[in-house]
Amino acid sequence: MSQKLVVGNWKMFGSRAMAAELLQLLRDANLPSVVCPPYPYLLMAADLLAGSAVKVGAQGLEYRDEGAYTGEVSGPMLRDVGCSHVIVGHSERRALYGENDALVVEKVRAALRHGLTPVVCVGEHLEQRQRGLAKRVVLDQLNAVINGIGAESFARVLVAYEPVWAIGSGVAATLDDVAEMHVAMRAALRDANCDGVALLYGGSVKPDNAGQLLSLHAVDGVLVGGASLVADSFLRICSAAK
Ligand code: PGA
Repeated sequence: MSQKLVVGNWKMFGSRAMAAELLQLLRDANLPSVVCPPYPYLLMAADLLAGSAVKVGAQGLEYRDEGAYTGEVSGPMLRDVGCSHVIVGHSERRALYGENDALVVEKVRAALRHGLTPVVCVGEHLEQRQRGLAKRVVLDQLNAVINGIGAESFARVLVAYEPVWAIGSGVAATLDDVAEMHVAMRAALRDANCDGVALLYGGSVKPDNAGQLLSLHAVDGVLVGGASLVADSFLRICSAAK
């Protein structure tokens, strides 16, 4: 198995002390990965991890570069503090903060404009899956971004399939469900002439299921929430990605 990608999304958890301790452990282990702490800890993360195999990402961005947008953080600012990645379209952003496909497209465009690699999240709700709409929903979200920015730009994007019902539930999607969705997404990417794009899986990835998920041919990496807050768990997942 070739090296696969592990991205950790801390969400709104942590403190300065916790971040310093966890980041130091990641630095010592030096396993290839991306960590996405909350905004206040990004600068510390980038400083601590400089020169290591661990890259730093933000959990979101405003698509405009500067201006009177109280509370927002722009792409140039993320670059300025040392970020290389940014999560866009996470289901929590879509559900709680109105991040719809049109806004996701603007944010992906802004990230690329400033040399940040966007990690674009797509995924269906349980009720959509139960109604047999999972693939439709996910492929619509994917195509919205491909059509919005064009295939050439899309080649610089990472995609994470995160079924909403698996996020934070403790129960990941089955290997069959993940493989089936990833194969469908891969076919859509091929149709759109952007076959090289990496497809990650996210949703209750833990040390004990990461190995199996990462061994799937169709899975190029994982996006990890809860388990990325504990050094031992995150590092075990990173080890499984080798
Ligand atoms: P989880 O979160 O690993 O805690 O399920 C994943 C995510 O929301 O990216």
